[in-house]
Amino acid sequence: MSTGNFLSMIQPSYQPENRPSRTTGVDSWSRVTKPTGNMDTPFVERICARRRVLETGPAMALRLPVTVKDLPEERVQEREAQGLSPQQRLVYTEPGDVLLPEPYKRVAEKLYNFEYRSDDLVVTTYPKSGTLWTTELVWAMTHLDQFQLPQKENTNDRVFVIDDDFLDMVHIEKAKERLAEQRPDASPEDGVTQQLAEAATTPRIIWTHLPLRLLHPGLLDTCRVVYVARNPKDVCVSYYHFLKKLKGRFFTGTFEGAVDAFIKDNLFYGPYWDHIRQARRHKDHPNFHMMFYEDMKSNILEELRKLSTFLGLQLDDDMLLKISEYAQFDRMKADSAKRTKLLHFEGNHCRKGRVGDWAAIATPEMDVKMERWIRDNSHDLDFAFRYN
Ligand code: A3P
Repeated sequence: MSTGNFLSMIQPSYQPENRPSRTTGVDSWSRVTKPTGNMDTPFVERICARRRVLETGPAMALRLPVTVKDLPEERVQEREAQGLSPQQRLVYTEPGDVLLPEPYKRVAEKLYNFEYRSDDLVVTTYPKSGTLWTTELVWAMTHLDQFQLPQKENTNDRVFVIDDDFLDMVHIEKAKERLAEQRPDASPEDGVTQQLAEAATTPRIIWTHLPLRLLHPGLLDTCRVVYVARNPKDVCVSYYHFLKKLKGRFFTGTFEGAVDAFIKDNLFYGPYWDHIRQARRHKDHPNFHMMFYEDMKSNILEELRKLSTFLGLQLDDDMLLKISEYAQFDRMKADSAKRTKLLHFEGNHCRKGRVGDWAAIATPEMDVKMERWIRDNSHDLDFAFRYN
């Protein structure tokens, strides 16, 4: 991990003393976690966990607010009918119904207790929402002396993808070797990326698709979090193509099956709406910045200005334009360093990078089904997605 001059480049506003005060943090937390029908953890318990973190510091182990259970046979069969492989052992959380690969069970508690630092930058999304793009933008903004040089390291060697510890989708041999060098006492079973991140002495960029409820309750009062959302139709299309490129490892079905799996929350990290809703609750938190893929596509400069302000960097337009070019779709598509290296993956992570690709593949029947699902699930949201 070469985080270079990250600290020396960031502006004074990036210093821990300029973080929201702890008292403010408690107030913000209370404000954004009003009990609603969608809360899956009792309100009081969440507040208590939050206060414990703020009062006693992060050393005390927190109990995971969900139980991680094996996926029941009927659900495995339902997924199989949708074209998803029955071979892979899966778990889900209760409450929350977040579907994840079985190794998550082993590291869930540790991930929940992962200690964030005030200078961490966390990029979090539902999969296929523009995570890689946003991560590269954030990386470039914080590595001004490096982003215009040829990249020697892949994205996942420059940032910490903490989900790699349970996804079983990446080559972790190199990471294991680094862990053995840096932490000879560490056991890889306890999470390779997580322990590498713990060993890091420079500011970290952390990427995760986990919904906020599965991350440390003190996260938002500790460091900055960038959340990217993308309209569900295009997420679904992108997810389908992504699964197909994994050489039949997880999915051998049709687009119709993928749509069904997506809206029935049978894909990893679902349910989609809950993921978005958990994030949106924090929209007024000073450490939380929500972006939309569609806005990034239509006016990247404006989105970068907002991101730069949020990160406390105040970069000028000339620099932001250079950064947007660095992470421009065609350039990312052509540069294998600007990608995560996935196991058994055939093709390019950067596929089309368009808004509205759903219309190119969905039948009218699928669209009716999707529209109904969107209507049923988004009526209480304070924003509407753009689909073209
Ligand atoms: P498509 O499959 O619709 O093309 P994630 O990184 O969260 O997995 O998201 C992947 C999606 O983001 C893919 O969408 C990919 O093409 C798109 N993407 C990646 N880099 C991009 C960029 N620089 N600009 C626009 N879209 C990008």
